[in-house]
Amino acid sequence: MIQDTRAINSDRSDIETLDEIWLFGYGSLIYKVDFPYLESKPAYLCGWSRRFWQGSHDHRGTPDKPGRVLTLIEEPSERCFGIAYRVTADVFDHLDHREKNGYLRLIKELEFEDVTRKPGVTYIGMPNNPAFLGPASDIDIAKQIHISEGPSGTNREYVELLAEALKAHNVKDPQVDAIHVLLQKLDSRRDA
Ligand code: BEZ
Repeated sequence: MIQDTRAINSDRSDIETLDEIWLFGYGSLIYKVDFPYLESKPAYLCGWSRRFWQGSHDHRGTPDKPGRVLTLIEEPSERCFGIAYRVTADVFDHLDHREKNGYLRLIKELEFEDVTRKPGVTYIGMPNNPAFLGPASDIDIAKQIHISEGPSGTNREYVELLAEALKAHNVKDPQVDAIHVLLQKLDSRRDA
């Protein structure tokens, strides 16, 4: 474990100021919904983009051989598709544990498909967290993902499940799609 953010996240009292709690999922929270929720709908986080720039030492890799998983990067001209879940505050004990490797639970503005906006809670691995790996070329990212595996399964499966979930919502994400295709090529090279 590189940085356990559970204590920081559980001390945050800002969700108490919200009259409704909307949790925004842009990665595994889109397809691995292991928490109760009251309703869900598609949403966007404006000014942010998803990137495979966070190291995974606890789920899709190991401390010696970290995988690469998603975080959000500030990009003023972009917006990131995800699923917003209306939840009660008690889900965060479980989620803070699940997403403890460097992620901070932050409140950012969400936009729904009817263009209404509401604050949403999302987990972000900021560039100053010790598990942050930062940018690399698509092929280097794909190669690292291809060989990584941790207690939650292979890093390849993480990308496959994400790509399938985005496709099911008719969402094209150029980086996810590019890495997904490169992984398939690396697989076929290994099988040849
Ligand atoms: C998510 O799916 O929203 C998520 C991504 C990275 C860390 C925690 C949550």
